[in-house]
Amino acid sequence: MPASRHPALSATDPELASFVAAEEELQARTLRLIPSENYVSAAVLEASGTVLQNKYSEGYPGRRYYEGQQNIDRVEALAVERAKGLFGVDHANVQPYSGSPANLAVYLAFAQPGDTVMGMALPMGGHLTHGWGVSATGSWFRGVQYGVRQDTGLIDYDAVRDQALAERPKIIFCGGTALPRTIDFAAFASIAREAGSVLVADVAHIAGLIAGGAHPSPAGHADVVSTTTHKTLRGPRGAMLMCREEHAKAIDKAVFPGLQGGPHNQTTAGIAVALHEAAQPSFTAYAHAVVANAKALAAALLERGFDLVSGGTDNHLILIDLTGKDVPGKVAAKALDRAGIVVNYNTVPFDPRKPFDPSGIRIGTPSLTSRGLSTAHMPAVAEWISRAVDAAATSDEPALAAVRAEVTDLMAAFPAPGLPLS
Ligand SMILES: Cc1ncc(COP(=O)(O)O)c(C=O)c1O
Repeated sequence: MPASRHPALSATDPELASFVAAEEELQARTLRLIPSENYVSAAVLEASGTVLQNKYSEGYPGRRYYEGQQNIDRVEALAVERAKGLFGVDHANVQPYSGSPANLAVYLAFAQPGDTVMGMALPMGGHLTHGWGVSATGSWFRGVQYGVRQDTGLIDYDAVRDQALAERPKIIFCGGTALPRTIDFAAFASIAREAGSVLVADVAHIAGLIAGGAHPSPAGHADVVSTTTHKTLRGPRGAMLMCREEHAKAIDKAVFPGLQGGPHNQTTAGIAVALHEAAQPSFTAYAHAVVANAKALAAALLERGFDLVSGGTDNHLILIDLTGKDVPGKVAAKALDRAGIVVNYNTVPFDPRKPFDPSGIRIGTPSLTSRGLSTAHMPAVAEWISRAVDAAATSDEPALAAVRAEVTDLMAAFPAPGLPLS
């Protein structure tokens, strides 16, 4: 990959430019299976790198604390309108810097320090910001956690209801970071109504699937929808909070001036472009292809003797429990990396091992689908994973190198969006 893709950067700071070029090479040559990652389009990349970067814009369109907002207001208003249209919501705030601050803004809007909040436990697939102990949300609030059933790997909605009625949390979070199954937003809404709680659907992982009609929508069920914009939605690193009109003021006030200062306007522009792309028929096809690929990959892994949490997947994500393979998740992830396959090690529900050395790996299909891989390729992907995990057990470096060569060959035939191979 020539560094001249960024001529000004290469001239000014060749050292930094070389790091970027190396990352471009890495992203182009490897099979990226981290389910929270993707490839943004060239248009999103361009929008995210514009002179909108140069503007301070505290406030909201038409209500700024700075002058010179003629164009910024139009950018943000466009992003907001596109978010509302795509997700079918009354109100959207596109300013949160990322998913964690977006969730923190929700606490600020609806709870006081010390209040009880409820979310899925981190080791069960929830996110840190859903009240988990090591997060500010778990130390400033009283976090109570639900999980999945040990026998099925699925959420037990009756148990969640019992817990919610006993705890009466101010906020209930549904959604998570390692959930391979469809979330029943209607069931969570009914539980939250009974418990008198604000329901927040954190759809960070599945926002693109929802936009493309490949996962049910939380609109009309959740009081607030929180999402990052950079996972299946295929936008820049950022976040959005969406809600019914009745909560609009509270959400906006919590984001600014409650938690943040000036919005990152270049990111807002990238989000607007991503939302436009996600409204196209081709994105609907993409979202369905992500799920079809994940299901095909899960089936091919099951055929090769892998143990999948919940037995498979309904979405973009697969959680593999490697206990039966006698290879810890971290060892497998590092071996896969050497084989050109990028995954993350992850706890599995009821994991006897520690989070930094867990039993599982987490994989997903958003990135490979963005490159055009189809269900026909999934048996080969599963076979590579299988060979690499076997090689990890015996530290068979030549076997990993052989997988890497095959991976590199296939990836060369499927250029990444926004990142054409030289
Ligand atoms: C469900 C969920 N919520 C929130 C976040 C936090 O997003 P960020 O990393 O942008 O702060 C993540 C990130 O992985 C997530 O998976």
